[in-house]
This record gives sequence, structure tokens and C-alpha cells, in this order.
Amino acid sequence: MTEHEAFFPATGMPDRDWWSALWPDPEGTLRALGITPDMTVLDLCCGDGWFTGPLAGLVGGRCYALDIDQEMLAKAREEATRTGAQLAGWIEGDARDLPALLPEKVDFVLVANTFHGVPDQSALATAVAAILKPGGSFAIVNWHAKPREETPVLGEPRGPRTEMRMTPEQTRAVVEPAGFELDKLVELPPFHYGAVFRLQD
Ligand SMILES: C[S@@+](CC[C@H](N)C(=O)[O-])C[C@H]1O[C@@H](n2cnc3c(N)ncnc32)[C@H](O)[C@@H]1O
Repeated sequence: MTEHEAFFPATGMPDRDWWSALWPDPEGTLRALGITPDMTVLDLCCGDGWFTGPLAGLVGGRCYALDIDQEMLAKAREEATRTGAQLAGWIEGDARDLPALLPEKVDFVLVANTFHGVPDQSALATAVAAILKPGGSFAIVNWHAKPREETPVLGEPRGPRTEMRMTPEQTRAVVEPAGFELDKLVELPPFHYGAVFRLQD
């Protein structure tokens, strides 16, 4: 993994074995978050693409994927190619450099399993607001704020350190000042929730 100072702390991509056990139905997760086939979407901090291929499939290819780690992007791309998913664009870059990195505004931005590590979360929410179309949505998938030893997968505690985890209320508190309002909270068992925000006029 390529780590440098722009890399958000504690956001390394997990191993595929337990990740696939934890997220057996990525498309179902995306649908639960409210992503529909007519949307143009951004998978922000896409990692090795566990959600990217299914996301691109769901929206007929109107999907951008962005990650700072070239190696992760290459893996995501390889996996998408293997499954026949087409994307509108693969973008290597720092999420904080949005909106400049995207060629168009999108309807929906997904950031999964990453927001807990973002040093200035309000600034990232502001950057996301700038790439959304009016009324667009921003979904944050977070581990529930449970002690790490209470979130085992394949027999071992997983996920970010307990003290980095965010409640839905903490997530709202940093995202809403950037011009968003919470639209819905989605339970993503066994250990996650999705907070879906709508950009206000
Ligand atoms: C834990 S992984 C999650 C991947 C994917 N969203 C998922 O849920 O399967 C977090 C990803 O964030 C990326 N990342 C870390 N810092 C970043 C930054 N400043 N800009 C863009 N991506 C970043 C890492 O390279 C890693 O691939």
C-alpha cells in the first residue's frame, strides 16, 4: 500500500477474505442507500473496488471512482474489467482536491469505510457539496460506534479503533454545516450504518 501524508489515517484497504464476508451483497447495500439506475455517481475513496463494479453496473456506467492509492485503483479497475463493468472515469487523487478532479457534477457521492479517518471532515463535506448537482446526495457508510472487540468478522475484531468511530449524530454534526440535511439513516447489519444527506438549496 502506498501511504503518504495525504493518506487519511486508519483507512487502509482491508483484506478481501473478511471484507467479502462482511459485505456479501454490495449491490444490495448500494440499493439500500438509495442509489438508482438513473444517477451519475462518484465512489469516493473506492479502495480495491468492492463496491465500485456493482455501483457502475447499477447506474449503467455513469460512475467515477477516485482513490489516492494507485495500487488500489489498479486493483479496482482490474476487478471491474473482469466483471464487465464500465466506468465513466478512474481518478487518482486526494479527495480533498475535489471538485477540481471531476469533469462534471454528480447526483450521488458514496464514501464508505473512510470518513472516520478524515482529519477535517467538514472540509471534505464542503468539497463534496461542490461536486453535487442541486438536491444531490452524499452517503457516508460508517462502522457503528461500538467497541472494536464487539465487531468481529471471521473470528477477529475488525474495523477502526474504537475511539475513531462515529455515531450518526457525530456524523451529522460535521456534515450538515456544509449545506446538507440528513435524509435517512440506513442500518447495514451487522456493524454499519449509512447516513444519507441531501444537499440543500
Ligand atoms: C478502508 S478503504 C475503503 C474502500 C471502499 N470505500 C470500501 O468500502 O470497500 C479506504 C480507502 O481510502 C483511500 N484514501 C485514503 N486517503 C485518501 C485521500 N486523501 N484521498 C482519496 N482516497 C484516500 C485509501 O487509499 C483506501 O483505498
